Amino acid sequence: MRFTVKNDGLETVKAQVLIVGVHTGARRLRGAAARLDRRTRGTLTRAMALEGFSGKKKELAWAEAPRTAAKQILLVGLGPSDAFDGKALGDAMGTAASACQKRGIATAGVLVPVSRSVPASEAAQTVAMAMELACYDPAMYKTDPEERKKASLRRVDLVAEREGQTKALNEGKRRGAALADGILLTRDLVNRPANELTPRLLAREARLLARGKGIRCRVAGPAECRRRGMGGLLGVGQGSAEPVQFIQLEYRPTRLPRSAPKIAFVGKGITFDTGGISLKPAANMDQMKTDMGGAAAILGAFKVLSILQPAVHVLGYIAAAENMPGGKAVKPGDVLRMMNGMTVEVNNTDAEGRLVLADALHFAKLRKPDFMVDAATLTGACMIALGDVAGGLMSEDEKLARLIEEAAQRSGDPVWRLPLSEVHRTRMKGHVADLKNTGPRDGGASTAAGFLSRFAEGVPWAHLDIAGMVWTDENRPTEPKGATGYGVRLFHAIAESAASGAW
Ligand code: BES
Ligand code: MN
Ligand code: ZN
Repeated sequence: MRFTVKNDGLETVKAQVLIVGVHTGARRLRGAAARLDRRTRGTLTRAMALEGFSGKKKELAWAEAPRTAAKQILLVGLGPSDAFDGKALGDAMGTAASACQKRGIATAGVLVPVSRSVPASEAAQTVAMAMELACYDPAMYKTDPEERKKASLRRVDLVAEREGQTKALNEGKRRGAALADGILLTRDLVNRPANELTPRLLAREARLLARGKGIRCRVAGPAECRRRGMGGLLGVGQGSAEPVQFIQLEYRPTRLPRSAPKIAFVGKGITFDTGGISLKPAANMDQMKTDMGGAAAILGAFKVLSILQPAVHVLGYIAAAENMPGGKAVKPGDVLRMMNGMTVEVNNTDAEGRLVLADALHFAKLRKPDFMVDAATLTGACMIALGDVAGGLMSEDEKLARLIEEAAQRSGDPVWRLPLSEVHRTRMKGHVADLKNTGPRDGGASTAAGFLSRFAEGVPWAHLDIAGMVWTDENRPTEPKGATGYGVRLFHAIAESAASGAW
């Protein structure tokens, strides 16, 4: 999808459709929309009356477009103006984009609604991102072309309401398109099945990213992981025919101020989680192809970093493995020696995420980052606690927790704080080894974090449990059923906060 900013007035935009947002309320048509109504001799008012359109959220009404350079007009409801925010705008424009897609429309002009609650740059960013995300088609393996949403919408003109907005709209559009690029990469990776997306393929995708500006990538295979003593990652991967991969990414812009912070992102990259010898039940096990959602979010975020080039140094670490049962698989009761020297009793082979993350966190720590944040589809317990409403945020560093909460709010990827303290660490003490990998069932998200904290000691660290967020079973305005791409915007926002001196 190509976005261009225009400010010559809606009626001059040459496109198959003009998309115009309308609020509910007494005087629904205002500003540029009211001008377009006069220009078209009341076509908008008539269409609204005819279709009983009142501007409610996501409501649609089609109209003709006389005396303009466009073929038709699509009105979309923005809801009440006093409760208007970026989410409402994104949902509206996503809905409009899907409607255009259904009709095979290739070119559209969008009047970008600018308000006090959603200023120009943010509005353009939201519109561009939402339209691109809404048109995403996860049916990549269908052979019947009729069954695939054709990517029809190719060109979108973002039309300014007033002069003087062009610069802000251009900046917002650039950010929106970049974020969408990253999110779509992440969705593709999470949607891809595990027979295709193996740890080695994940590594290849990471290497492809290194073509981007300021990105470098190194991958360690099983031999190097063994030399480095990464017993957690190797232990989890030993039941699989697919070799483990430890992926190292680095983003460093060309002109980086000396004072710029160095931060690390760490991701769980289990390309399929059968549970191992502690095998999962059959129902919905196919969902476990999404168990590399944390890793995918990091790859998406690095893509965005390479495009937007914020002034911050970012390291990325992904521990990738396939968790399989088999003659060589790790067994319940086995003891693993981790990279940091600690020993872990594997009392449940299905608690594999924390084992691979432990080594990755320790590795990241050796690079002495100012802070580190990991993302992992780690526990069903977090899903039970928070559902698909927010990712679980666990940290004992108040400053970092606040930075992440603020970044989450700004980015649109919500988080919710869950407890983490000494209690949770105590519950992970082992019987014959230093630690065991599963504690009591209750408070499972926090005890998992308690386990991880032993490997992050000494560096400000936060853990994001994103198990409930990486996938949706319902079609949402900007999230068709499947992978959501959660985490990309959040990671990018965290990096931007660090770049702007919040750390
Ligand atoms: N990948 C799963 C967590 C998960 C479950 C993610 C459902 C998404 C949806 C993780 O590896 C796992 O199996 N966790 C266990 C831990 C338990 C054995 C302590 C869980 O949550 O049941
Ligand atoms: Mn598991
Ligand atoms: Zn898992």
